[in-house]
Amino acid sequence: MYIVPKIEDYSPAALDKAGQELLNAVRQEADAIAGENEWKAFRDRWMARKNGVLTQVNDMWLKAAPGPAKRDVGARINEIKPLAEEIIQNAWRRVFETKLLAEHEVAKTVWKVKGKQGKVTIRDLLLAKERVDITLPGIVRPLGAEHPVIRTMNEIVGVFRAMGYSIAEGPEIETDYYNFEALNFPPDHPARDTQDTLFIAGQEKKRQRDRLLLRTHTSPVQIRVMQQQPPPIRVVIPGKVHRADTADATHSPIFHQIEGLAVDTNITFCDLKGTLDHAMKSLFGSDVKTRFYPSFFPFTEPSADVQVTCFKCGGKGCRLCKMSGWIELLGCGMVDPNVFKFVASNGYDSSKISGFAFGMGVERITMLKYGIDDIQLFYQGDVRFLEQFA
Ligand code: PHE
Repeated sequence: MYIVPKIEDYSPAALDKAGQELLNAVRQEADAIAGENEWKAFRDRWMARKNGVLTQVNDMWLKAAPGPAKRDVGARINEIKPLAEEIIQNAWRRVFETKLLAEHEVAKTVWKVKGKQGKVTIRDLLLAKERVDITLPGIVRPLGAEHPVIRTMNEIVGVFRAMGYSIAEGPEIETDYYNFEALNFPPDHPARDTQDTLFIAGQEKKRQRDRLLLRTHTSPVQIRVMQQQPPPIRVVIPGKVHRADTADATHSPIFHQIEGLAVDTNITFCDLKGTLDHAMKSLFGSDVKTRFYPSFFPFTEPSADVQVTCFKCGGKGCRLCKMSGWIELLGCGMVDPNVFKFVASNGYDSSKISGFAFGMGVERITMLKYGIDDIQLFYQGDVRFLEQFA
């Protein structure tokens, strides 16, 4: 590789020779270049400001020259420099052209346009690259589809809308007060342990009722709705809830619920039964029967689990219903008078009004409706799963 020599002889012949040697060296190196990266290294080697060959030439030839020779040396350098730079530029053109020509389709298009004999210039190649074939079909953007969980949610909400219910929502980050206390879970009551709650850290200084948590159910919105409007109430509340559950085929730390609340004069357990029986028939077919199985929730009294006859075996007993013939779908009950005490100032007097409430898991219902055996499928975003609901 070319190394800038020291100059000792300042005769015109010697300077000529040094100049020619330098130009020969650039040419030789330029000819050997094959690709873009090689060219860049080559350019830097020769033209880098700091230590490129051309800078070295300035230092070693001009600055080192004795006074009387400086003029001559300077003039030579001024001749050589642009020539060397041109060689470097031409090398770039060659590399670039080769690159474009290598893009076969482009070259072919140009030749089709210009005829094989025409000279193809870089401009032609660049223009050919920009050509758009307007006869090609457009990009088809696939239409999205409703997620199965949202679809079920809308379906359930629709069933209740048709019965005159309105829709409400509430925050996912709740206070202990709404999630537990106002729902008749007294502080330190063991019923709180049935919901593995995710608390927000670092709130030890706050009063317990003000501490924030991720709501474990949509029931706190019952309280929020009753605070906002006096009776009568007919409302469904869809939403996302959180529990400190380890994910497996039937558990997810995040899932969805739909809550329902009806408050009025003379609301009875019969109304609850009739309403939910109708809803289950709408969702699973008019053949299903419902039964109300005694249960416990702090905010309802009496409380029940609603079970429907297994829609797979029709009640005979199969793997889906664990041979019982029944499938448990949701929790419900008559609003506990203690709950009304928390909203008494807004017209809720348990000696005058009564109500029922229910809450169902949307994923669970979706899984049963469509025969999905792993809840995780809802959250993995696998298009092969999702497009089956499109
Ligand atoms: N919130 C209860 C749960 O998540 C379900 C429920 C709602 C029960 C309303 C009764 C009344 O388990």
